[in-house]
Amino acid sequence: MKSVLNGKTVVLGITGGIAAYKTPELVRLLKKAGANVQVLLTDSAKQFVTPTALGTVSENPVLTDIFPKDVQGSWTVHIHLARKASVFLVAPATANTIAKLAHGLADNILTNIYLALPPTVPVIIAPAMDTDMFVHPATQANLEILRQRGHIILPPESGLLASGLTGIGRLPELTAIVDKVNEVVAGAKGDLSGKTILISAGPTREAIDPVRYISNYSSGKMGFALASAAQKRGATVQLISGPVHLSPPVGVDLISVESALDMQTEIENRFIKADVVIMAAAVADYRVKSVSDTKIKKESSAGFELELVKNPDILQTLGKKKKKQILIGFALETDNEIEHARQKLVSKNLDAIVLNKANEPGAGFEVDTNIIRILPATGGIIEFPKALKTELADRILDFCLTLSEKNHV
Ligand code: C5P
Repeated sequence: MKSVLNGKTVVLGITGGIAAYKTPELVRLLKKAGANVQVLLTDSAKQFVTPTALGTVSENPVLTDIFPKDVQGSWTVHIHLARKASVFLVAPATANTIAKLAHGLADNILTNIYLALPPTVPVIIAPAMDTDMFVHPATQANLEILRQRGHIILPPESGLLASGLTGIGRLPELTAIVDKVNEVVAGAKGDLSGKTILISAGPTREAIDPVRYISNYSSGKMGFALASAAQKRGATVQLISGPVHLSPPVGVDLISVESALDMQTEIENRFIKADVVIMAAAVADYRVKSVSDTKIKKESSAGFELELVKNPDILQTLGKKKKKQILIGFALETDNEIEHARQKLVSKNLDAIVLNKANEPGAGFEVDTNIIRILPATGGIIEFPKALKTELADRILDFCLTLSEKNHV
């Protein structure tokens, strides 16, 4: 099979963690997959692995300085190399380098090249360090900044660490890193290019009066992850989102809405041109019948009744109108989940429904991970282990791609 890495340049930044001793083998595996590997080494990485070893296996000069002593006029090397990169991989990534990348410091060759990368170059970061450093709120906050920037964070594994302690922090298997590089480069090639994908995300807010509303706990993370992943894979993405606290994904057309009715208008306006529609939003089922123009005053009576009316089911309306579009819904169930999800799949005329586990740690609203199953209209259940929403977004898109190939959309 022809490797997607053939002729691609992997810029590999190695930082000063003990796992750096494994990197000549990582370079060898990337080369074996057809990549041209250009290694960058920080000063502390040199304590664990030598430029000679890495230069030998990569068959390229290893860059260690912003101002190489022996080459005249080469201080712009970082700009040229950054432009040649098909992917930028940092493995192992120490807490120190992660902090620098998150905050834009440029004090060595690795951080310089990172800042010079064109925005289209995917970035993969493989943190490896002692458990306490990894779980420290500072490191986690920095990783979150990088994640929000659209970078891929390869979660470290648990096991015996160099310190003799056991815990999370080990560099993942080298083959897993190479697989991820392959996957990202395949995606960067744009397996969704030419497709228009409409994604809804977040909660809706149903006004009660000028200062109050009814809503739910949806964070929008799943929908935003889908939008970002689809954009990276070359799709034209329109993201219709209720109020959330997330940064807009780079390159995505974000349309912010408040209520279910607003969301319906924005989605229906764009439906005809869409190839795929993924409704990840938690749309409020009801809205207040008559919204007060003025703040409702506290009455002396003990109770207060609010009359609600049903919101339109946006997805069901789309299901009725659909022609060539692939239509994917989400379901969050607390009981008889498969049965309920199947009913929705049929009644809304969907191509598939993604069933979120409710009531389980690491799944559902607000958290970064999720546990999902895909129920295709054609039958069966596709199960996935608990994973980051960013990871699952790619799996859901892989599934959409197989459907679109079958339907010739
Ligand atoms: O019926 P239920 O609300 O559980 O269905 C969930 C799916 O339907 C989700 O994909 C959600 O975005 C969509 N939905 C909708 N309009 C509503 C309610 C839910 O499009 N009013």
